[in-house]
Amino acid sequence: MISVRRLSKRHGNLVVLRDVTAEVDKGETIAIVGPSGGGKSTLLRCLNYLEHFDGGEVDIAGVKLRPGMGVRERETLRALRVKVGMVFQQFNLFPHMTALENITLAPMVVRKVDASVAAKRARNLLARVGLGDRAGAYPHELSGGQQQRVAIARALAQDPDVLLFDEPTSALDPEMRDEVMGVIKDLAAGGMTMLVVTHEMQFAHDIATRVWVIDHGVIAEDGPPSRVVDAPRSDVAKEFFSRLRRHR
Ligand SMILES: Nc1ncnc2c1ncn2[C@@H]1O[C@H](COP(=O)(O)OP(=O)(O)OP(=O)(O)O)[C@@H](O)[C@H]1O
Ligand SMILES: [Mg+2]
Repeated sequence: MISVRRLSKRHGNLVVLRDVTAEVDKGETIAIVGPSGGGKSTLLRCLNYLEHFDGGEVDIAGVKLRPGMGVRERETLRALRVKVGMVFQQFNLFPHMTALENITLAPMVVRKVDASVAAKRARNLLARVGLGDRAGAYPHELSGGQQQRVAIARALAQDPDVLLFDEPTSALDPEMRDEVMGVIKDLAAGGMTMLVVTHEMQFAHDIATRVWVIDHGVIAEDGPPSRVVDAPRSDVAKEFFSRLRRHR
């Protein structure tokens, strides 16, 4: 479903991703962890072409991404936006639109889905994330956990093949984290292919098929949670997990 070959990305002289190579199968959930500044967000943003990259190749959900894509590849990037959804730490809902309108917007604009069809589907998605009764609520009328669940429903509305999550629970109070993690867990059980940047190690342990530890622009470790979290091999992973445990 995702193939990354020698992906490299710089900001000026700073190398942010260095020759990252990885494969993700359909239905896998990858938990991405690692020290601040290691390149986790940048990797996700490159996979969705929210940032261009300097070298390498990405094939994701049938879309080929290469360095230096621009207006001539508009159709390719449009296909990418439909097939690869992204959920951010800060929800990024449109404040002047209801939950329902946030969800129906992209299908209606990008895929020209009929308004009534889009609304029906949006109501189903809201029910799926436990918000069947809040279709008419504006973001400021919803809790953080509820807003994030709307954001997940919005991503699902495009019927994506891949979902990318960048610290989806980091901006939430503990009691709201569980409801959002519950939704992501359900998606994993349903076979969605997902990459989730998270600091919730128990969550990563429970849902991830594999854990990637990213540091200094490389995937320092890649394996099942039972191996990477419980018995890390690299110094960076050992240090990272032991620091997490100390902070509990
Ligand atoms: N627009 C930019 N200009 C210059 N440097 C940048 C830019 N965006 C990111 N960086 C740098 O790239 C590196 C990787 O950043 P990135 O946001 O991917 O890290 P991260 O692993 O997501 O960290 P965190 O856990 O803090 O979210 C950091 O050193 C960061 O300072
Ligand atoms: Mg980040």
